Amino acid sequence: MTPDYPLLARQLGALLDTRDWLVNSAQTCAFLMQELPDLNWAGFYLQREPGLLGLGPFQGKPACHPIPFDKGVCGAAARTRQTQRVADVHAVDDHIACDADSQAELVVPILAGDRLWGVLDLDSPLRDRFTAADQAGIEALVDVFVEQTDLE
Ligand code: SME
Repeated sequence: MTPDYPLLARQLGALLDTRDWLVNSAQTCAFLMQELPDLNWAGFYLQREPGLLGLGPFQGKPACHPIPFDKGVCGAAARTRQTQRVADVHAVDDHIACDADSQAELVVPILAGDRLWGVLDLDSPLRDRFTAADQAGIEALVDVFVEQTDLE
């Protein structure tokens, strides 16, 4: 069953009561890990140098760092600025396996104006975990994060 994303958006909006990117990104990935079923990793990668994603706040196992824009599902999201919804990560040639449990992945780019600030990466141990409705709902949660955060 699809989670009640409008409710989650209101709850996340109430949770993010600072404008601080570090606090808000830490709270957001903890919130997603608690509230969304069947995730094994939820976190942020930040563009702190051009063309490179550095690991940010996350929940889950220790992860890969850094990820260049030309590698992996996260790199594709950063490069194309399009959400990447992958039903089966093993079908993606350059998928970067950080956690062997991961089967499906959703990566949403995060823009600060016209600059790519980073990406939100969600991994699931279930194949086909993310539907189009999940993608839309999670993109709306990222919008809440962006609206309520001063992105440096
Ligand atoms: N699988 C990602 C790497 C990040 S981890 O999943 C946390 C990718 O292919 O970009």
